[in-house]
Amino acid sequence: MSVSVRHADQLVRFPAARTPYLRHDRAAEIESGAGELTIADGVVAGFEADRDADVVIDASGGAVVPGFVDCHTHLPFAGWRAQEYAQKVAGVAYEQIARAGGGIAASAAALRAAGDEDVLRQAGAIRAEMLAHGTTTFEAKTGYGLSPEQELRAVRLARSLGADVVTGLFAHAVPPGFDADAWMESAEQLARDADVDALDVYVESMAFRNADLERLGEIARQRGLPLRAHVEQFNSNRSVPVAIAAGARSVDHLACLHPDDRGELAASECAAVLLPGAEFLGDERVAPGRALADAGAICVLATDCNPGTSTVVSMPLVIGLAVRRYRWTVQEALLASTLNAAWVLGLERERGSLDVGKRGDAVVLDGPIEQLPYRFGRNPVAVVIRGGEIVWVRPDQSWRVTPR
Ligand code: NIG
Ligand code: FE
Repeated sequence: MSVSVRHADQLVRFPAARTPYLRHDRAAEIESGAGELTIADGVVAGFEADRDADVVIDASGGAVVPGFVDCHTHLPFAGWRAQEYAQKVAGVAYEQIARAGGGIAASAAALRAAGDEDVLRQAGAIRAEMLAHGTTTFEAKTGYGLSPEQELRAVRLARSLGADVVTGLFAHAVPPGFDADAWMESAEQLARDADVDALDVYVESMAFRNADLERLGEIARQRGLPLRAHVEQFNSNRSVPVAIAAGARSVDHLACLHPDDRGELAASECAAVLLPGAEFLGDERVAPGRALADAGAICVLATDCNPGTSTVVSMPLVIGLAVRRYRWTVQEALLASTLNAAWVLGLERERGSLDVGKRGDAVVLDGPIEQLPYRFGRNPVAVVIRGGEIVWVRPDQSWRVTPR
């Protein structure tokens, strides 16, 4: 099976890097000239039109970008927490809601009460929405189990959902009846044994501490798994130097990143995963995206899709927020949503850019890339190709696709 994507006004290509990611101070080198793309046998085959292709996609008037990589979601979860959003809008703090039994504990109760089929039905519908917004690779986290049995069930459900990477967020909230020390024993046991691809921890005043991040870093090192960390979301706990010393692959959130930690992060081989959907919906502070990019950090964007802080499923929406709030170019936002996000997941050799030999994951946009942030809130995704297969065509865009 071969697909020939023809006459794109823009084809987004990243400059060759000596590293498996591209630091943001090189984003000006991203190319977006007119081009053709051929995908054959599931992989990117070249940049000339293939007259014998099985399917032709007319990308005229539009742009072709790598499939989006959403490297930070909290799928699978059960139900939603709309009433908490109304409380937050009325001025109640996230921490206050959490301490009153809402927040993560409320989603844990919902997960426990729901059957596997119900959880997978809801998560599968979200997954389909993500695909229709151009996400061809996604990560899923545990963290709503809050007991060893339910955390292991979350691992299994995340695998059933087809997540490309399953992250064990075993230290997410302190379960009722535990203190942080007591739960860390269970979390560390899970981190040592569970069948996961990465580890994560939530460091915050009402959750876990820098010392717990260090301990999980040790387990991640022993297991050879990447370490991720939720840090500096609502308060500055100076967790970034701790995460870097623990060998973290990424630090996520950073709305309250301490200015003195910015330079060390930018110079390190630890990605800054920014989550502007959570920042917007939670009326959080705004992460210093511009300063991090200028300082040459490995910048990444993701939805943080979860029922509490960010219900966002759309990477185009996240790109729109990032361009406005961080004062990024659209090229910077695209780099953060594709190649650098793939590196966070350890998938950069096969995903994240339109390079010969990589998996054939491409998104055809119905207009130029500049319209992604500008026509904010609209879904510009016309066609999605994943592994060389056409997996989504927006109904009004079917004229673009011609089987031969
Ligand atoms: O990434 N902050 C910690 N974890 C999630 C929120 C989880 C929830 O509120 O359900 C986050 O924002
Ligand atoms: Fe998160």
